[in-house]
Amino acid sequence: MKKFGTIIGLGYCLPDNIVNNNDLEKMVDTSDQWIRERTGILRRRILDREKPSSDMGIEASLKAIKNSGIEASEIDLVIVSTESPDYLTPSMACIIQGGIDAVNAAAFDLNAACSGFVYALTVADQFIQTGMYKNILVVACEGLSKVVDWKDRNTCVLFGDGAGACVLTASDEPGILGYDIGADGKKYKNITIPCTHFSEEELFKRKNKRDQVIYMEGREVFKFAVNAMTDSVNKLLREQDLSIEDIDWIIPHQANMRIINNSVSKMNFPIEKVIITLDEYGNTSSASIPIALAEAYDSGKIKSGQKIILVGFGGGLTWASTLIQWI
Ligand code: COA
Repeated sequence: MKKFGTIIGLGYCLPDNIVNNNDLEKMVDTSDQWIRERTGILRRRILDREKPSSDMGIEASLKAIKNSGIEASEIDLVIVSTESPDYLTPSMACIIQGGIDAVNAAAFDLNAACSGFVYALTVADQFIQTGMYKNILVVACEGLSKVVDWKDRNTCVLFGDGAGACVLTASDEPGILGYDIGADGKKYKNITIPCTHFSEEELFKRKNKRDQVIYMEGREVFKFAVNAMTDSVNKLLREQDLSIEDIDWIIPHQANMRIINNSVSKMNFPIEKVIITLDEYGNTSSASIPIALAEAYDSGKIKSGQKIILVGFGGGLTWASTLIQWI
């Protein structure tokens, strides 16, 4: 009998430290008004510099496991989505696996930038479909503040830190109904964080400093994002033989309110049925979707039987969407 990957527990973690737009006015040439009007972001959470980002992933995971009702030892696999890992090796997944005592789990990281959580859910669901694993912990854990150039107003006003996690289990009931993941690697230069290779071009973009910080062509990413999210959702709906009216909630990647407004308007989907957290948390990269999902669930918005689309885009450039029927 076909198995479905079904979410049975959610958790998230945000650092306590709140940084308002007014605080950023003291650091770069920007204003609260510009950030609000151009992005919709009011504030973001920033992790203490000396703390590892994996701490947030561990806390989010422990909550997700507690809410799922299973034991950490029953988890077969930990997949962590991150583009801001504490180490290149070990993976964040190994650090989190050790931190939560998931002693029987395999562990690996996956980097699809801000699309990473939906990519990771897709990969996890494949392990469930083949029957290889029963319980999989999918975590998105991002300490973007550590890779942001705090002197670059084009990027530093956008990002925040956080982690979200879910336990996916093999079930006879849906579950994840379908997904669409994709990439356009020819556009990779639009968002970069160099690691071991600094081309002349990357050095130039960063004012000749070998800092491992984000560089982004905001306008190009904006145009890509609106089309990528709309096309991906439409493809998913076609494949599932559903129309947009069948969908109860859309949870998009939380990057920019104008991107979200443009995308859902192209989909003919009412903005009232879109979960928004970016005003409070900014863009937490791949953690933004699971944080928004967990918050929406905790607040009672998401109910049994509802159909929810998660859709993201990001560095790579990548995109990803999935359709879930809530148990
Ligand atoms: N404060 C004040 N002015 C700023 C600013 C800031 N924080 N950041 C940029 N500006 C300025 C620019 O320098 C530019 O000035 P100029 O006209 O004198 O050159 C002006 O504002 C307009 O810049 P532009 O880049 O066209 O703004 P925008 O409306 O496209 O908004 C982004 C910029 C980054 C908010 C927007 O392009 C965006 O959200 N892009 C997608 C980014 C994204 O989602 N990234 C995450 C990928 S997962």
